[in-house]
Amino acid sequence: TKSGYDHYMFKEILEQPEALTRTWEGLASTSLNQVEEMDFAKLDRLQIIACGTSYYAGLVAKYWFERMANLIVEVDLASEFRYREPPMPSNGGCLFISQSGETADTLAALRFAKSKHQYCLSVVNAPQSSIARESDFVYRTLCGPEIGVASTKAFTSQLAVLFDLVKQAAKQRNAGQHIIQELGDTPEMDVINAVQQALNKANKIESIVRFFDDATSAIFLGRGQCYPIALEGALKLKEISYIHAEGYAAGELKHGPIALIDENMPVVVIAPYDRLFEKTVSNLQEVRARGAKVILISDKLGCEICKEYADCFIEMPTLHETLAPFVYSIAVQLLSYFTAVQRGTDVDQPRNLAKSVTVE
Ligand code: M6R
Repeated sequence: TKSGYDHYMFKEILEQPEALTRTWEGLASTSLNQVEEMDFAKLDRLQIIACGTSYYAGLVAKYWFERMANLIVEVDLASEFRYREPPMPSNGGCLFISQSGETADTLAALRFAKSKHQYCLSVVNAPQSSIARESDFVYRTLCGPEIGVASTKAFTSQLAVLFDLVKQAAKQRNAGQHIIQELGDTPEMDVINAVQQALNKANKIESIVRFFDDATSAIFLGRGQCYPIALEGALKLKEISYIHAEGYAAGELKHGPIALIDENMPVVVIAPYDRLFEKTVSNLQEVRARGAKVILISDKLGCEICKEYADCFIEMPTLHETLAPFVYSIAVQLLSYFTAVQRGTDVDQPRNLAKSVTVE
């Protein structure tokens, strides 16, 4: 049930601290019982394959696996991968990410990879699903059933599983230990607390949807691990509010999309104060100079530094840059949710969409 909320989507957004807790606890207990553990040390390459929001979780994982586990990762859309006839290295792994475990293109890609003798791993929410049954290694998100068509808690739970796999891979491949150390002993607890704090900003986020009142289009910008969150923010906004939105890598702006910028274009900039912050701020100034309304999502320091450069601010809790995707996804979920509510769309059941896409 919706337990008194207007929409499943809002309930599911709010459930994320518990969903993450359950997912991480579940992983800790399964690894105890698991007879065999995936050995990431023997992989020359990891190919991640998924669709939609699950694909964006895969993009975040690419940044993590490469930087922390020194593993070459490619990420592909299942619908492209399955027909491309890509060469498959002999020590290759394929990782499939799917909430439903039944997405037709992802399942077909899994069957293709198996026929090419790849190690097939999957991250699924539905344990009895076809993708779970046909994979060599299955990792479950324990976010519970997700009813809203827009993926929210499934996405952050996928990130939770992927983060765990990255840590496992880093250990096995003897890589990234300085980052693991920086993250401290309880990065999972830090994430759960920060996600809760991000959710506490719901009222503030609701108050800024007025920036989208007359918008027919919006742009989301991010760099590094926040680039996939920009893509996810744009997907979320278009699927439930029907406002056209595009996510771009902040550095790509000047290669074309900047032509779209004028006073009617809200630009959401996702920029935690990290190694790449200054670069993103210069992109932010470029769009502001062309009249765009800039909504900055950053942490305390980032918001302070930019107080002259943005029209409004969503302040997220500060945490290690590696973990930023968890909290910044909460901000974009809430932003699109409240924008859609304001527009009066059918938030849980947007037009033309199905929860599980079992046809190609
Ligand atoms: O069940 P899956 O994770 O395989 O589904 C993939 C996409 O269909 C799904 O993420 C879709 O993009 C959502 N509607 C996004 O909110």
